[in-house]
Order: sequence, then C-alpha cells, then structure tokens
Amino acid sequence: MTTVKRNIPIAVPCTGEEEWLATKDVFLSGWLTQGPKVKEFEQKFADRHKAKHALATTSCTTALHLALAAMGVGPGDEVIVPAFTWVSTANSVLYCGAEVVFADVDPLTNNIEISQLKKLRTPRTKAIIPVHLFGLCADVDAIKDALPGVLILEDCACAAGAEYKGRPAGTLGDMGAFSLHPRKSVTTGEGGVLTTNNTTLNELADTLRNHGASVSEEQRHAGPRPYLLPDFNVMGFNYRMTDFQGAVGTVQLSKLDRFIDERSHWAAYYKRELASIPWLRTPETPRGWRHAWQAYVTFVDETKSPKPRNEIMEILQQKGIATRPGTHAVHALGFYSNKYNLKTSDFPGAWACDQQTLAIPLHNKMTEEDYAWVVNALKDIG
Ligand SMILES: Cc1ncc(COP(=O)(O)O)c(C=O)c1O
Repeated sequence: MTTVKRNIPIAVPCTGEEEWLATKDVFLSGWLTQGPKVKEFEQKFADRHKAKHALATTSCTTALHLALAAMGVGPGDEVIVPAFTWVSTANSVLYCGAEVVFADVDPLTNNIEISQLKKLRTPRTKAIIPVHLFGLCADVDAIKDALPGVLILEDCACAAGAEYKGRPAGTLGDMGAFSLHPRKSVTTGEGGVLTTNNTTLNELADTLRNHGASVSEEQRHAGPRPYLLPDFNVMGFNYRMTDFQGAVGTVQLSKLDRFIDERSHWAAYYKRELASIPWLRTPETPRGWRHAWQAYVTFVDETKSPKPRNEIMEILQQKGIATRPGTHAVHALGFYSNKYNLKTSDFPGAWACDQQTLAIPLHNKMTEEDYAWVVNALKDIG
C-alpha cells in the first residue's frame, strides 16, 4: 500500500497567468509607479466596497498609519486597539506618537469585547481601531453606541468583501484599511487600500501618501508646467503603490467574490464535519454578517482535548497539514508588555485566543481530498 504524502499549506495566493499578463502593459507603458493602473484599481475597489473613495498604499500597516495621521491622531491622544490582532494594528498608533489602550476580545468571535469599552474611554480617547479578524466584522454599531464621538478606523486587513448587516467592511466607520498581503484572499504581493466616505479625510490622506505634495506626480506630469515642483505644506510619507501592483490588484479583485464563495462552501463543510469533535469549537457567523473567510480559525478547548493545542499542531504538521495560531496577543509580546508593564492575564480573552486558537488550511488552491484529509486528521486525534 502506498501512502500519499500531502503538503497542505495554511494559505496559498491564487495568482497565475492572468495576473502576470496584466503587468505587461505596465512594462510597456513606462509608467511604473502610482499611475493609471493604480487609479483603475482604486476605482474598482471603491465600487466593490460601496465606498466613496479608495487609496492604494504599500500595505495595510501603512494604510492604518496614513488614516490615523489624516485623522489628526498625535501625541497626547489615546487609541483603543484589541489585544488580539496583528502587532502592526498597535504599532500604527505609536508611529503617530499617540498611546495604545488595549481592549480585551471575546474568544467566541475573536473580536473586540464591547462591554468594557465605556470604561476604557478617557478625555484623551481620540479613536478606536476595531479589527474584523479573519474576515468577521466587529460589531461596529455597538462600538458607536458605546463610544459616541470617537473616530473609528476599521482594520479590514482580513475583511475584503466582508459585510456587516448588509453594509460592506471599510464603510462602517470613518476609514477602513485593507491588506493585500499574500495571506489575504486577494493579493498584490504587498499592498493595502484605505477606504472612506469622507472626502476631506481622503484628500488629506492622498496628500500624505505622496510626501505631502500639494499636487500629485500624475497631475504635475500631465499639467501644462511639469517642470515646476509643487509646494509641500504637510509632512508626508511615500506610501504609493506601484502600477504593477495596481494591474494585479484589478485582476485579483475581479475574483474576490468567487474566492469568498468557494471559501464559504468549504467553511460550511468544516463546520459540518468537525461538529462531532467535542474539544474543537468552529467559528460562528452571526445572522446578517457576511464572513470573508480570510482564515478558518477554530478554538481548542483544552479542558476537553486529549492534547494541548501545540501538540495537536505538531501531529497535524507530521501529516503534512500546516496550522497556525489565529494571530497573537499583542499585549503579551515583549515590546508591548515592557512598554506598558502588562501581564498576560490582563487580557484573558486575548490570551486564551493566543494560546488556544488553531487556524487550519482554507484557501482557493485546496482540493476536496485536501479538505477531507484535514478533517480526518483532526478526527483521528480523538
Ligand atoms: C489584523 C491585521 N492588521 C494588520 C495587518 C498588516 O497587514 P500588512 O501586512 O498588509 O501590513 C495584518 C496582517 O496580517 C492583520 O492581520
């Protein structure tokens, strides 16, 4: 009998010839950085997410930074950030000279726990960054009720195509920051997008993205006096996307809904098939939410499981199945625990998620056999 050795990565970008060919025009045009392809991508991204504006950036991290800078977040301000998220959600606050105030998360959703928000508010609270973790939107209406007047920057890194009560992620608060990293459903290699319905914030973010220039390079080159450099009235950054990425982004975006539909199909399969494992909790999607399934993140109940989560990961690794913790508890990372003198137990929900979440493979290059292999491997654990 032959044993089939499998190798199922946790995520694989779904790119190919179409994306490659889309970059050809860019090479031939000679306009390589932010130009017509980025503009086209931005327009399509804005339309898809029903946002008035979309600005392409170099990553979600830089989109978060750009958004906070445009919102005027600076020294003396506090920004509320969930303690279970990727580290750069918090870093973007420190880039602006403001302080991070961590909030715990609800391990049932992995998203910010609403009941504590009122207590975290101080006269210095300027903004909150709800994270739509793994593609499930945070309860933004409840956040607005708890924190009236506080600016909302959605961290939509995982949430391209996600919906909340029929409204698209990226339009639920004041601004939304998306990631196009290869672990996301649609990718441009590295890249991000900043969405908003607020034209003033958009114009400022646009200027800040391009060194603070009062006139963009495209406008200057196309204008009557391209030899005159513009004025710079604010200190900006270079967070411009290349036109290669813009071209790839347009192709990827056209596949987003198919990718999410496929992922939803397999997420439902996992839910059905894994229901018989008493120690493994699978994710729930509240009625009215559209999960974007950037990742399929389960939770190991170690009071019932035959082995601790990390041993389960090792067993799966031996069977060719890549797994990961969902993400990390940022308050427990060396830098943040030292900076704010925090203990793991200060945010028990986030710490439980850090220790017990188990992301299993879900992506658009998996086969039916791969999914069955993952399910059987988990069932075999007991
Ligand atoms: C929740 C969250 N926020 C921000 C980021 C940063 O995204 P990027 O790598 O595009 O900067 C990530 C990336 O994994 C993320 O998961």
